[in-house]
Order: sequence, then structure tokens, then C-alpha cells
Amino acid sequence: MYSDVFCRVYNEFGWNYYPEAFGEQLLKWLAAHSLQPKSALDLACGTGVLCRILQAAGIRSRGMDLSEGMIAIARAESPEIPYDVADMVTYRPEMHFELVTCTGDALNHIEDLSDVGRIFENVHACLAPGGLFVFDLLHEQEISTAEPFELEFDDTITARFQITCPAQDRVHLQTQVFENGVHRFTEDIFERVHDRFAVLALLEQAGFGLVSCAHRLCDDGGEVATWYIIARKPAR
Ligand SMILES: C[S@@+](CC[C@H](N)C(=O)[O-])C[C@H]1O[C@@H](n2cnc3c(N)ncnc32)[C@H](O)[C@@H]1O
Repeated sequence: MYSDVFCRVYNEFGWNYYPEAFGEQLLKWLAAHSLQPKSALDLACGTGVLCRILQAAGIRSRGMDLSEGMIAIARAESPEIPYDVADMVTYRPEMHFELVTCTGDALNHIEDLSDVGRIFENVHACLAPGGLFVFDLLHEQEISTAEPFELEFDDTITARFQITCPAQDRVHLQTQVFENGVHRFTEDIFERVHDRFAVLALLEQAGFGLVSCAHRLCDDGGEVATWYIIARKPAR
């Protein structure tokens, strides 16, 4: 999953719009609630886009991701930010953060709901009292098979993307890369559409209070095809 070649395709083809939009909305939400966290951890940070946005807003940031290729790009783009290569199902850093984020369907990459519960326990352990956990989930009603589409990298490289739903709660993104028309590479990414009520129950079990679960982080933005969930670790 997320091989080095795919990470370059991911980076070059502009999937950065999602964490950019998320970061903008999150900063607006924090400002609207007069909150200014001093530290943040972005779980499954990918190429580090959200880390850089938070860092630029004065929030000391750290990122982590399972993919060495994604973290290599993140480190090259922002050497001043610490990044870890790790599995968020078992990752439990020693330090505490006032904000933890996990975006871009990253939790939908986790097949087993009990592993999602373990991630919530890890997040709870590394959040400061009163700290916020903000994440997104695929919206179950917005999942559908889409027509394949192609993007050209340059004169020689083309990538073909195909999203299918092999089952009601599964999404399969297949990316094929062609060089001068010759197939070079295929990446298959599978996601699971989790029942949001089961996810909210796991949050509560891990000790979080729910702040909100909505189609948008703020009234004026965010993708409707997504659930945005904000949870808080009790202050004491
Ligand atoms: C669609 S990308 C989103 C990246 C980033 N959050 C963003 O919004 O641009 C999903 C990311 O989840 C990471 N990921 C998947 N499973 C993971 C796991 N168990 N632990 C850590 N990262 C994981 C992938 O490597 C990938 O970088």
C-alpha cells in the first residue's frame, strides 16, 4: 500500500487540495471557538500538507504515516517538522499534544473496527486533558462506482484511476501508470466504509466526549461526501 511510485503520483496529481481545504476549515473552526492549540499530531499525515498548514499557523506540529514514500516527501518538503514512520494502530508517542488530526479517509484505510478503537485509545493517551481529536470518515451515502479517468503526468506518463465498490461498505481505488502507452505499474487501495454510529460508540468507549459530527467543519465549506468528527478528551 502506498508504494514509492504511487506516492509520487499522489503528490504530483494534486490530491493536496483535500488537506489544504481541511486545514483552512480547521483553523477557521478553532478561531471561531477562540482556541489556539500549541501542539498538534497529524496521524496518517501523508505528504505532510496539514502539518505544514498547522505549523505555519503557529501550532508546533508532528506527523506520522505508515508509508515510507509519503514520509520521504513530507520530510523533503518540511525538514523542520518531525515525522515518524509507524502504524497508527500501535503508535503511541510519549509526548502530549493539544490537537490530534486524522484526515483524507485515513481511518477508512483501517479494515477492522476494533483497530479503529485501538487508534482512539492511542489518541486519548497522547492528548493533553481538554485536547481535541478531529478526523474525517467517508460518508456512506456518497460511495459509488465512478467512471475511470486519466491524467497526464507529462508527454510520456499517464495515470488511469478507477473507483469501484466491490461491496456496499468497500471502496477500491485502482491506479494504473502507463509510460508511452505501456503499462508499468498498478496500485490497489482498499477502503472500508465504517458505520459512523459504531465509530462514535468507540470514541465514547475510549473516553472522548463528542463535540460534533457533521457534513462540514464550518458552515461555509468542506466536502459533503465526508463526515467531520470533533471529539474532546475531558479536561480532568
Ligand atoms: C488518502 S491518504 C491521506 C493523507 C493525508 N492525511 C492527507 O489528507 O493528505 C491516506 C494515508 O493513510 C496512510 N495510512 C494508511 N493506513 C495507515 C496506518 N495503519 N497507519 C498510518 N498511516 C496509514 C497512508 O499511507 C496514506 O498516507
